[in-house]
Amino acid sequence: MTDAVALLEAKNLTRHYPVSQGLLRPKVWARALDGVSFTLEAGKTLAVVGESGCGKSTLARQVTMIEPPSAGELWMNGANVATADRATLKRVRPLVQMVFQNPYASLNPRKKVGAMLSEPLEINTTLNKTERTAKALAMMQQVGLRPEHISRYPHMFSGGQRQRIAIARALMLDPKVIVADEPVSALDVSIQAQVLNLLMDLQQVSGVAYLFISHNLAVVEHIADDVMVMYLGKAVEHGSKAQIFSRPLHPYTRALLASTPRIDPAQRQEKIILTGELPSPIAPPPGCAFNTRCPFVQERCRVEEPALVSFDGRLVACHRVAEIN
Ligand SMILES: Nc1ncnc2c1ncn2[C@@H]1O[C@H](COP(=O)(O)OP(=O)(O)O)[C@@H](O)[C@H]1O
Ligand SMILES: [Mg+2]
Repeated sequence: MTDAVALLEAKNLTRHYPVSQGLLRPKVWARALDGVSFTLEAGKTLAVVGESGCGKSTLARQVTMIEPPSAGELWMNGANVATADRATLKRVRPLVQMVFQNPYASLNPRKKVGAMLSEPLEINTTLNKTERTAKALAMMQQVGLRPEHISRYPHMFSGGQRQRIAIARALMLDPKVIVADEPVSALDVSIQAQVLNLLMDLQQVSGVAYLFISHNLAVVEHIADDVMVMYLGKAVEHGSKAQIFSRPLHPYTRALLASTPRIDPAQRQEKIILTGELPSPIAPPPGCAFNTRCPFVQERCRVEEPALVSFDGRLVACHRVAEIN
């Protein structure tokens, strides 16, 4: 990491949701996102991985400014989003765009491709109709859609093509960051690699950075520069792709990796099989949140929360990291 101002920085980003337990019972809080910090550099891909329910989409909603955090800070292009004035926000918001998991749900069925791609330009730029159409056509070509597709509706496309439309729309305002929340999870496996390759090609051309969210480590291995592993709203390990994939250190990362089919199965570490379910973020276990499922659990893990600290060149939150690896 450099001393230069990061394109995007999250500091202790937190989101707690109120959960009603019924009229007569006190309101409780789901700690969906519980103090996550990272930086994202221009042109890089940070992958966020973890099981369903660990807070990935909640993180996506904070980073895309769809929702304000309960605590913590989001810095975009040197501006603190929470305290920025209107003019700064107006400049900064379009710099972060989102691609959702389900291209069937995220595209308006009543709008033709041309209208969908032009819309962000209509709202945010002074381009006239001819210019907007020209830009839409150029973007369609970049994502591998044909010019005649411009007057078609979403239902006329396959899942992979729809995700290409969603990616094209996200790129229309030349964003610096795209948050992609499980962008290939709804697609056939045979199509997934095509869309991942497209994302990587577009990054080469445009220099856009990705916050790439996935529950699937095999997908992440294809696209990531860095990987942050989340468990119950917190980062448990964060390092380069090579570090995470060749020598995962946190027992949870090791378990996730052991359950992922790998191209290169050579692994020195003993396999950890993940059993049991993710605890509720309403009542996370005391101490280390992973202690209820960890094969290396000791008394200390049940009472004292491990800090996310530097170890072997990456960040890990495990009391026993040195002993068990
Ligand atoms: N609006 C909400 N109200 C209450 N709980 C929520 C809300 N959104 C998410 N959660 C809870 O926060 C946790 C994290 O959810 P989410 O961010 O969707 O995880 P992921 O995307 O990793 O599957 C889950 O336990 C979920 O039930
Ligand atoms: Mg999600």
